[in-house]
Amino acid sequence: MTREETPIVVADDLRKDYRGGVRALDGLTFSVSPGTIFALLGPNGAGKTTTVRILTTLTRPDQGRAAVAGIDVLAEPGRARSVIGAVGQHSGAVGLLTGRENLAMQGSLHGMRGKELRRRVTGLLGQFGLADAAERRARTYSGGMRRRLDIATVLVHRPAVLFLDEPTTGLDPEGRADLWAVLTELASTGTTILVTTHYLEEADQYAARVAIVDRGKIVAQGSPGELKAGIPAASGIAASLDDVYLHHAGRSFRQAEGVLVA
Ligand SMILES: Nc1ncnc2c1ncn2[C@@H]1O[C@H](COP(=O)(O)OP(=O)(O)OP(=O)(O)O)[C@@H](O)[C@H]1O
Ligand SMILES: [Mg+2]
Repeated sequence: MTREETPIVVADDLRKDYRGGVRALDGLTFSVSPGTIFALLGPNGAGKTTTVRILTTLTRPDQGRAAVAGIDVLAEPGRARSVIGAVGQHSGAVGLLTGRENLAMQGSLHGMRGKELRRRVTGLLGQFGLADAAERRARTYSGGMRRRLDIATVLVHRPAVLFLDEPTTGLDPEGRADLWAVLTELASTGTTILVTTHYLEEADQYAARVAIVDRGKIVAQGSPGELKAGIPAASGIAASLDDVYLHHAGRSFRQAEGVLVA
């Protein structure tokens, strides 16, 4: 295996049961190549957030192995956190602090200070289109600005891997396009990005690889092209990623309710 092929994120046979008999993950396995964008898709309750929470040290699996940048996240969560940036489904920004202060605080938590930290913060504010709003309190930001601030904040310490749980949910089309432009640029400079999303067209357009999660397992994975080529096309029309998704994980929400209860 060449160096490029060594995965930077490994989820190996993860199982997670929650109290009340919910099996959130049921032997989930995948890996991510360095410097790529990897998208986890799947219905509500499939296990995407649970997977991200395990990989980012926020929860532990009952079984399996998780590693980021060669670090076992279960054995060495502190070291793992130093190479990870993670944004959850809800904003982590401190509303009473300005954008600049939010970024500076995060840098201090990672041991950065002085001129290096100030330069890094100013650079990120510019990269994420927040230079003009830098001295405003985060609570005055729009949803899209806050999302950009959240991502900029977790990048201050230059993590190798960025985990984003539904980063574009709730953003307008322009905000989504802007965010993807920044993510694509980050990936092109070597940052590995794992995103969850319900926007299949985004995964199709921007992710090098896609994995579809259903009931705590990966039910399909590959490049968008491979996945589309792998399902029967309807009457000569090329399959879309929506077709792929419905083929592997499609069911009505009524069927989805309760299926995870063991
Ligand atoms: N803290 C918890 N306690 C009990 N059950 C939980 C907990 N967190 C998640 N679950 C359950 O685990 C399963 C997987 O949830 P998870 O949040 O990982 O799904 P998801 O794929 O992120 O869904 P969504 O697309 O709605 O965000 C669901 O059945 C959910 O109800
Ligand atoms: Mg989720």
